Amino acid sequence: MKPLARTVAEMPQSGIREIANLAARTPDCVRLDLGEPHFPTPPHIVEAACQAARDGFTKYTPPVGLLSLRQAISEKLQRVNGLDVPADGIVAVSGATSGLFTACLSILEHGDEILLPNPAWPNWEMMVLSAGGKIRYYPADSSRNFLPDPGELDAYVGDRTRGIILNSPSNPTGAVMSPGLVREMVDFARRHDLWVIADECYDEFVFDEEHTCAARFDGDGRVISLFSCSKTYAMTGWRVGYVACPQDLIEVMAKLQQPVIGSICSVAQKAAEAAFRGPQDSIAVMRDYYRGNRDLAADMFADTGIRTWSPGGAFYMMVDISTASMDTYDFAKRLVRSRQVSVAPGETFGPGGRGLVRLSLATSRDKLETGLERLIEAIRADSQSA
Ligand SMILES: Cc1ncc(COP(=O)(O)O)c(C=O)c1O
Repeated sequence: MKPLARTVAEMPQSGIREIANLAARTPDCVRLDLGEPHFPTPPHIVEAACQAARDGFTKYTPPVGLLSLRQAISEKLQRVNGLDVPADGIVAVSGATSGLFTACLSILEHGDEILLPNPAWPNWEMMVLSAGGKIRYYPADSSRNFLPDPGELDAYVGDRTRGIILNSPSNPTGAVMSPGLVREMVDFARRHDLWVIADECYDEFVFDEEHTCAARFDGDGRVISLFSCSKTYAMTGWRVGYVACPQDLIEVMAKLQQPVIGSICSVAQKAAEAAFRGPQDSIAVMRDYYRGNRDLAADMFADTGIRTWSPGGAFYMMVDISTASMDTYDFAKRLVRSRQVSVAPGETFGPGGRGLVRLSLATSRDKLETGLERLIEAIRADSQSA
């Protein structure tokens, strides 16, 4: 038998999935692992998909997505993000995941490098490797409050560096970049002639300030912006995301839709269109709920001596478990088995996640409270026995 492709065989698995699989097999486990809203998709969105299916809207659609959906996205980008992007500057994709992957395929030659924040959502590494590229981490760790310092990034750029991933609000840290920092990061990319892949899937979940799009500072067509319906409208399973990118790239992205996904699910596009055009109040409800969860978590950790970093957005919180003196995978697995609570092991996000675990705050308040009680007890017990 011929061997399988090496890049794929050598690709690391996401540790989030590994723990999620273990948690799914564990009775009474409180799930703080996956970043998935516990809210249902709002009913008017579901109804639009049902109606479309009943109307027979069940065929292939154009690879770039329905024009009516892209028009609705163009209006959202104007209304929410202050970006002026016409419908033909947008590709609707099968989840931001597929958009990020096609972005990597669009810009990478074999052996080219992409700069990733450290710590980073693990799927980016998998995408870059699948596209034949390599990753290089740039520092955005806890000693910097999980924000990069543009002043120290020049040293990370080499001959083969092709682009940089920016992610604000961040998964896994919830860190939010200020407008000034976003501008400096885009300036840095311009100085080195790099593509910017701006993953802004949590753009509507910023708690204390406004989200700033990298594309606002794009003077010369280098920013590829990724957004998603998954978190904003509690639509993770519908698989709708969208990419706004410079005109040169749009045709390549559109072409790559054909080998990668063919076209997006027809009725999911109708659902997404209803999401953009319908009432937006569910977003504020979810944002307030996640903010409340963040505040509850901060209160519960307050007098424990356990270090945490309060997130400015998204719905994640990093927690220091370094007193447990074991690697974060072992900690997370043991936590599931002995305390029935699941968190993501920090090391799956890169070396910057060492000694940390990531909590997903996207759950009901009572589950969060129970999960945090169990986690705090476990960390205390470990530090006492260390
Ligand atoms: C930073 C980030 N980007 C992209 C995605 C994927 O989003 P989608 O469901 O639209 O593929 C996620 C999902 O967790 C994420 O956290």
